[in-house]
Parts: sequence; structure tokens; C-alpha cells
Amino acid sequence: MANTLTITKPDDWHLHLRDGDMLKGVIADTSANFSRAIIMPNLVPPVITVADAISYRERILAAKPKGHNFTPLMTLYLTEQTDPNDVADGFKSGVVSACKLYPAGATTNSASGVSNFDNIMPVLEKMADIGMPMCVHGEVTDSDIDIFDREAIFIDRVLDPLRKRIPELKVIMEHVTTKEGVDYVKSNDTLLAATLTTHHLIINRNAILAGGIKPHYYCLPVAKRELHRLALREAATSGDKRFFLGTDSAPHIDPLKLSACGCAGIYTSINTMSCLAHVFEQENALEKLEAFTSLNGPAFYGMEPNSEKITLTRQDEPIEYPTKVKTKQGDVTVFDPMFPLHWSVN
Ligand code: DOR
Ligand code: ZN
Repeated sequence: MANTLTITKPDDWHLHLRDGDMLKGVIADTSANFSRAIIMPNLVPPVITVADAISYRERILAAKPKGHNFTPLMTLYLTEQTDPNDVADGFKSGVVSACKLYPAGATTNSASGVSNFDNIMPVLEKMADIGMPMCVHGEVTDSDIDIFDREAIFIDRVLDPLRKRIPELKVIMEHVTTKEGVDYVKSNDTLLAATLTTHHLIINRNAILAGGIKPHYYCLPVAKRELHRLALREAATSGDKRFFLGTDSAPHIDPLKLSACGCAGIYTSINTMSCLAHVFEQENALEKLEAFTSLNGPAFYGMEPNSEKITLTRQDEPIEYPTKVKTKQGDVTVFDPMFPLHWSVN
């Protein structure tokens, strides 16, 4: 069995960095191992305009450790009032890389998201014209729809009709969690792709609910049945260009997770590469890891892969990593994959 693996330095195509003390506490876990990341705009208040994105980008760069070579790729939070010209200017000037569509109420800080999709048609048409991608949180929010069905129903009721209205729009289905999501992406052409998270390749819904409720495994979209996890693993490890890593690493301090109404989000930035090497090794697909973490994402976004390399090393003894990340806001619990990790990045 190979003990080292050298690959193109990865990017994270879906990341929550937050702001202020939380940003300062977590940024190094990403900037140490990833060259670029698509930065989610769901701050309070959200990153809506290009001016918002410019100032958030400056705060990220100021918080980054000096020696780390890391580029934040900014996104704008789509609202029903978003100005198509502002979006286009931001994309053409290279300040923003994509827009994020949150159905209103779908997840953390999504209250300003979209309820009536007709109202965002002008901005989506503009994005299609200029080749700007849309990242989408693909879940319906209707209270009568079972939470485990919300992704599959979103595809049928919202995403597929929307793509038929604007077939030239480049779409990334973020954090796909179902076989239906994987199949939908596979049945389409080059304008549709999906990010997959580290944790959804490792846990199914039992991790959250069996043997006691475990809030640190709660995220949105919520982890599904085992058959879905297996479909995600097959997609990630197949090398298929339409699937790439977006960790959705989403830090919340422990008191907000361990609560009667706990926040959704799993923090994986610090051990993602170790977890992924383990998953790809289990699937006898280590040679496909680079495509998933470092090649497919830039190809879809129309960017060059990074020129730097990283080497992953396997040791017999389990590696050590912190179970908590300490920030000035409080502790953030690190994702526990429930198996020892043997791969580390040097
Ligand atoms: O689990 C999640 N956490 N899913 C999301 O969509 C948002 C994220 C967050 O911002 O905490
Ligand atoms: Zn997210």
C-alpha cells in the first residue's frame, strides 16, 4: 500500500469562514491546506453587494496568517432585490466568482433568501449571459415537506424548471446529499456540477440519531440514509468531472450546537484532507483524490489548477489532531469521523 501521495494543492469550493473573532480563529485551518475557497456569503447581514464582498474579502485577507498563500473567492447572496448590473460588474472585474441562491429559510442566516424565484430571473439571465455560476442550496423549505425529502423535491419542483427556463446558466448544486441529486447531476451536460462535503461521505443519519442525539453531526442538508451516502462516495471517488470538494465546513461555538434548538453545521476544515484520504483509500481510489479535491473544481469554474503540490503521508499509528478549535468567541468542536485517521498533510 502506498504511504505517500503527492497531489496538486486542493481548493475548497464551499466554505463558511464567518467574520470577526470566529474568522480569526478558523481561517488558518483552511489557508494551511487549501489555495482557494469559495466563501459563503451568509453573514449577518449577508454579503449582498460587490461593495460588501470587497470589504469582507479584505477582512479575510487581514485575518489570514502572513505566510499562507490563500485566495478567497467571493460570492454574493442573491435576494429578490439584487441588482443584475452590480453582480455583472463584480464578476467582470474579478471580485466575485459566483452568486449563492438560498431559498428563504432553508438554513443558517437564509431569511433574506429567495421566496419567489420569478423575481430573480433578470439577475439569473444576466449571469447566464456572462458565464457567471450560480451556487444553490438545493432544498425546498415548505413545512409540509419531510426534511429528508427536501433535496429531491427541490430538484423536481424548483431546479429542473429553473434550468429549463435558463438552460445556459452554469449551476453548482451545493452539498448534494442524495442519490437523486447525484443522478440528476450525472444525467446532465457540462453546465451542471455538484459539490460534495467530507462529512456526507462519512456519516449517514444514524450518526445524528442512533444511540442518543448527537448535535455535532447535525448540518443542512441533513445526512440521509446509507444508500445515499454510498451514492455520494461512488460519485466522489469515480473521478467524474462534475463532482468536486466543497467542505461546507461551518463553525458554530459549542453552546449554539448543544442547545434545545441547535445550529446546523459541521466543522471539518482542520481534518478534511485526512478524512478524504481515508475514504478514497477505503474505496481503492486514492488515484482519484486529486481530481476530486484539486482538478474538477477549477475546471468547472474555468480556472487553472493550483501550481503548488501537497504530499499526504500515511502512518501506521493514528494521527493526532485537536478535538476543539479555540476561538475568542468560544470552542468549536472538530468533526469526529468515528474512526482513527492515518493520513496527514505535509
Ligand atoms: O449545515 C449547514 N451550516 N448548512 C448550511 O447550509 C449553512 C451552514 C452554516 O452557515 O452554518
Ligand atoms: Zn454551506
